[in-house]
Amino acid sequence: MDFTPSSIPMRVAAATKTITGCSTPHSRRHITMAAAALTAVLLLSGCGGGPASQGTENAAAADPASAANASGNLNICGGKDASGIYRGTAAAFTKENPGITAKFTEIGATTDEARTQAVQRLEGKSTECDIFLLDVIWTSEFASQGWLLDQTKLVEANKDRLIPSTLETTKFEDKYWGSPFFTNAGLIYYSKNRVSRPETWTQLYADAAKAPGNGYVYQGKQYEGLTVNFLELLYSAGGEVLDEKGEVKVDSPETRKVLDFMAEGLEKGSADRAVLTYNEDATRLAYESGDYGYERNWPHVYRLLNATKLAGTFDVAPLPSFDGSSKASGVLGGWNLGISVHSTNPGAAVSFINFATTPEWQKHVAIDFSQAPVNEAAYSDPVVLAKMPFAKELLASVKGAKPRPVSPVYPQISQAIHKNVYAVLSGTVGTDEAVKKMAEEIKTAKASF
Ligand code: GLC
Repeated sequence: MDFTPSSIPMRVAAATKTITGCSTPHSRRHITMAAAALTAVLLLSGCGGGPASQGTENAAAADPASAANASGNLNICGGKDASGIYRGTAAAFTKENPGITAKFTEIGATTDEARTQAVQRLEGKSTECDIFLLDVIWTSEFASQGWLLDQTKLVEANKDRLIPSTLETTKFEDKYWGSPFFTNAGLIYYSKNRVSRPETWTQLYADAAKAPGNGYVYQGKQYEGLTVNFLELLYSAGGEVLDEKGEVKVDSPETRKVLDFMAEGLEKGSADRAVLTYNEDATRLAYESGDYGYERNWPHVYRLLNATKLAGTFDVAPLPSFDGSSKASGVLGGWNLGISVHSTNPGAAVSFINFATTPEWQKHVAIDFSQAPVNEAAYSDPVVLAKMPFAKELLASVKGAKPRPVSPVYPQISQAIHKNVYAVLSGTVGTDEAVKKMAEEIKTAKASF
């Protein structure tokens, strides 16, 4: 019997695709791998189920010289523009390049939704989007599916401007598939008159439970944001998901400790149960009500919070260590600019990327939008420091942040994480069972590629 993914019954393949907006797998591997791929697709109903490389060696490349005579329209597609950076950069670029009209099209409120929307367009060979804003976790999948122009030459030309860890996020099979636009590291915003600066997660949770107005809000909804929030605690407690050889190491005492800690935090009132419905924006709005002591969010929130009645009442701190016994460590976030293989105007896309990564514009990334630049010099610019007083700490956070697991099946790995973390937080599954399931599902996902 033929178990190659192309022989997956049409109905199953179609259903998988409709539910998730995923790519149908095109594995070139043998029977057992193919069967594992099908199992992974069915079990996890995640996206990009069991994809295999379409062969990145022959991928079309973006030509740096094509920017010179570029003109016409350029459409940049990405998730919610909470900081205004996408629209703002498109407008500034158009002003400086009158021959090109750049616009931003929003394709989803969260990173998960933006990914589903992007995948649907790419699979349908849509020419609507020239540039896709790519979450740093998508590179392997999008490159292996053959959806992006190879940007190696372009990146090589702009390399000196860019922080090395941000460049790493665009690499797959020794080529660069995007150019870093802004990077990201989690921060704690705290009400300085009510709670103390967080030195450890255990202290933050203890302070948060002390009085009604001290509570902690974070991203606890079942999506990528919860994976990030969980991994920040796990990494700071010394745990990991995969080791350097790619072996699954998530079934560990550290994972159990962190899950129990998060669940207890909800029981004891450190965090409000409402966080189980919060993404980044909902977290921000909850904190803006003035009813909380601590908020975990990204740097862009700083500017937005300063425009509310809470201006002057809060401070910003890097993510703390777990309990002082291990090093603090965050999770590296950020967004890269990828050029769609279906773009009808790649020259304009190259021109936009050149503009967005200039040291000059990278200062605006911080000054105008409170996002983290990918150019290191920006962090010591006096205007940046005046607008973003925590710039030095932000740079240290970005440099110290660890990546999420790198894999073409990252979406399934992340789903295995956030689904099981959520089950523990919502009280439907015990920690031990959830950790075992998480590890099993990550192994299944990995085996599918
Ligand atoms: C931010 C980060 C991104 C992360 C997402 C999670 O947008 O930049 O890397 O995946 O948040 O919600």
